[in-house]
Parts: sequence; C-alpha cells; structure tokens
Amino acid sequence: MAYQIIEYPIEKQAFYHLLKEQLILYTKDAVNSVSALANASAILHAAFSGINWVGFYLVRDGRLALGPFQGKPAVMEIAYGQGVCGGAWSAKKTQVVKDVHCFTGHIACDLTSVSEIVVPVFGPDNEVLGVIDIDSPLPGRFDEEDAEGLRIAAEIIARYM
Ligand code: SME
Repeated sequence: MAYQIIEYPIEKQAFYHLLKEQLILYTKDAVNSVSALANASAILHAAFSGINWVGFYLVRDGRLALGPFQGKPAVMEIAYGQGVCGGAWSAKKTQVVKDVHCFTGHIACDLTSVSEIVVPVFGPDNEVLGVIDIDSPLPGRFDEEDAEGLRIAAEIIARYM
C-alpha cells in the first residue's frame, strides 16, 4: 500500500477526488480512532501545498481538545465560540479566513500563519464532533472550493471522532 504523493499542478476538483480516495484507503482498516486520525493528518499534510499546520480538534467534555496534527505545538483546549475553531463549532459552519490578523479572537499557535480554514465535522444528529483546522503562511490560501472539498473529507473522518 505504497503512498502515492499528489503531484502539482493539479486542478482542485481532481485534487479533492484523490484526497478522498487516500483518506479512505489509509483509514478504513483502522484499529482505533487515534490511528485513523493520525494517518488522516499525515495525508492532509502531504497533500496540501503552502500550509504550516493541519490537524483535528475533538469535542470532549464541552471543549475542543487537540487531536492528531502535523506542525508546531498548538493550544490543547479551545472553548465553545473561541477563536476560529470555536467559532466554526458554535456557528456549525466552515470558517474561511483570508487574513487571521483581521479575525477578532484568532488564537495564534504558529506566528507564521496568515490564513486559515476550519471545517466542522458532523455526527449523525448534526451535532459537531470536532473540526479540521488548516493554517497557511500565505494570505488567502483557501476558498469555497476548499471548503466544499474539506466538507467531504470531514464526512470520511467523522466516524473516528
Ligand atoms: N488558530 C486556531 C487555533 C488552533 S491553531 O491554529 C493550531 C483558532 O483560532 O481557533
């Protein structure tokens, strides 16, 4: 099951199709959720160009708890409604942030981060189980096409949250 890196340049729709296949391939035989999310964070990290942090926060005891990720050490707990992650949770809506310096309450884990996307992961009753969080040192790195592609990724990893 040799890992196939996603070659750039690639059109976004094709990119998210390949990403979906890889996420399923590298999580489907998971023996536990931590292993699945660890592999999923590695897949996302290897796939995206121009990012400096990617990972998951899981809803635990009424707060977002840091899960598997790739990047510099990060804040371990986020309250409901706090920061971009807490905002995605409370609004139940993807947050596409073109410039984090303009986002009131942004929590800076890596000072090189300039743009960010946070996608809520939903359970069977439309409850938020956690979020996918990706940071980039590039301004405006993410758009609505990324939001849609990552919404599908969130559906694949929901069972591990
Ligand atoms: N920036 C996030 C916090 C997590 S770090 O990016 C890993 C926020 O504002 O919620």
